[in-house]
Amino acid sequence: MDFGIKNRLSRIIKAKTGKTVMLAVDHGYFQGPTTGLRDPGKTVRPLISFADCLFITRGMLRTCIDPKSDTAICLRVSGGPSILGELSNEDITTSMEEAIRLNASGVGMSIFVGARNEDRTISNLGRLVNEAERFGMPVLAVTAVGKEMGRDARYLGLACRIAAEIGAHFVKTYYCEDFYKVAEGCPVPIVMAGGKKIPERDALQMTKNAITEGAAGVDMGRNIFQSGNPLGMIKAIRSIVHKGASVEEAFEIYSKK
Ligand code: R5P
Repeated sequence: MDFGIKNRLSRIIKAKTGKTVMLAVDHGYFQGPTTGLRDPGKTVRPLISFADCLFITRGMLRTCIDPKSDTAICLRVSGGPSILGELSNEDITTSMEEAIRLNASGVGMSIFVGARNEDRTISNLGRLVNEAERFGMPVLAVTAVGKEMGRDARYLGLACRIAAEIGAHFVKTYYCEDFYKVAEGCPVPIVMAGGKKIPERDALQMTKNAITEGAAGVDMGRNIFQSGNPLGMIKAIRSIVHKGASVEEAFEIYSKK
């Protein structure tokens, strides 16, 4: 890895702890104005200084985020289908030039392992990595797994390993039983997506498990911004990721209004 990639990546994954708290707010790129993100600017404003990085599309970055914020940006650069279409039919939608102009510290796209357009999304990842490496830009591969495949360690392990083999510099995937097997088989950092909203204590437990089993942090959305107390939740997640807090300690942080 060259200096540029390492330097940008260190804006996202903090050297002090080797971990990151990414706040994912890119959901609208296929879901439209989803719960908690009808007004992304309003949602993000109180949370942004507690996130190491925002995962966001260029449209929301330009219109909703204060450019003076020093939180790193990882730009979602893939898209195409809406929630009404074939989700795996994604392409790269945002240029590297745009990512650099927006001062992104990383770019991210989805690969759909086990889905209809698996091969094209994986070769898109290869093309994105080729281009990103010319500019010292780290690439995050988001492992979206086909509907017919279970979110278990075997398939998530397959998807993460393929992403790393193709050259992704870090990978986002879901938590699953035996997550350590996914982490062991993937030589680049893994960040955990939160998935659908679950009770706060369960989301904190899942985060603790992922970190204990080898995750380099989270790229979490709904379990933060759809929480009863989003600010408390991001602080609680931070305490686990960066400070090794227990679930009980984190839940106490969450519960403080
Ligand atoms: C999904 O493809 C989106 O990119 C989200 O960024 C990702 O799922 C993380 O958000 P959540 O924690 O809500 O699952």
